[in-house]
Amino acid sequence: MGRSIVKEKALACVNGAFSERCAQTLMACGKQTDILKVEMGQVIKPQAVIEKLAADKYDTLTVCHNETSTGVRNPIAEIGKLVKKEFPEIIFVVDAVSSMAGDKTSPQDLNCDIVFGSTQKCFALPPGLAVGLVSDRAVERAKNVPNRGAYTDLVDMFEFEKKHQTPFTPNISLLYALNKRMDLLLEETYDKVYERHQDMANYTQTWAKKHFSMFPELGYESITVSCINNNGRDVKALNQKLGEKGYLISTGYGKLADKTFRIGHMGEWNLQGIKEVLTLIDEIWGL
Ligand SMILES: Cc1ncc(COP(=O)(O)O)c(C=O)c1O
Repeated sequence: MGRSIVKEKALACVNGAFSERCAQTLMACGKQTDILKVEMGQVIKPQAVIEKLAADKYDTLTVCHNETSTGVRNPIAEIGKLVKKEFPEIIFVVDAVSSMAGDKTSPQDLNCDIVFGSTQKCFALPPGLAVGLVSDRAVERAKNVPNRGAYTDLVDMFEFEKKHQTPFTPNISLLYALNKRMDLLLEETYDKVYERHQDMANYTQTWAKKHFSMFPELGYESITVSCINNNGRDVKALNQKLGEKGYLISTGYGKLADKTFRIGHMGEWNLQGIKEVLTLIDEIWGL
């Protein structure tokens, strides 16, 4: 996306490992990129974004909706609203890799120009496809960006789409799977999918606050993955025992590996399943 969208200079907001990777990807594409960085666990505040954007000339802004490494859910809609008002020429790009198809991530809900996700998270499919929604004005921008690459040329993708084709061999088997998943999601409805994820997050986070504490800044907890301070507990040993029952949770990611653990509640999961896992953890850890 960065290769087709950034014209002169991007501002990449970083509050965890995946937003950091986004900034690095822009730089690896040879794009001038400034970083607005806050501590892991903190959110990207709308006002801080506006102040940084006002300090220089940017044409692209990137923010991660759901920082999977910290369990922080950034206030994208508020950021988008302000950016649209103050800097209407900026293309606002949102990484929703771990929230699309779980949380509300339509461009209308997020006030953004581009939002992209991935099949292996809330879509509950194998990895191998990126799913993106792109506004007309973002495609228009791309037309004026040189060196968009062969496989990453957004304009090409939309030109081929007019012929019901892709510019390269598509991952057809996964497209069929995505089509099926979309049918199921539409049947459940956008609002109910959101509610199911919200219910799982509320239950998990109430449990987490009773026995541990949440890692993210209060009020900005993800609804698809809960990142919990581990209070020195051995999560790897826990996972061995959970594995015997067919379950697995995650240790912390990267720098947070030894401090936190993460419980994913996305995709095909429902509240009943989450209750079962948490009850098992209660038993194993004697909580
Ligand atoms: C928020 C977020 N962005 C980006 C990525 C990178 O996705 P991929 O591993 O498909 O490149 C991940 C992966 O977990 C993620 O959680």
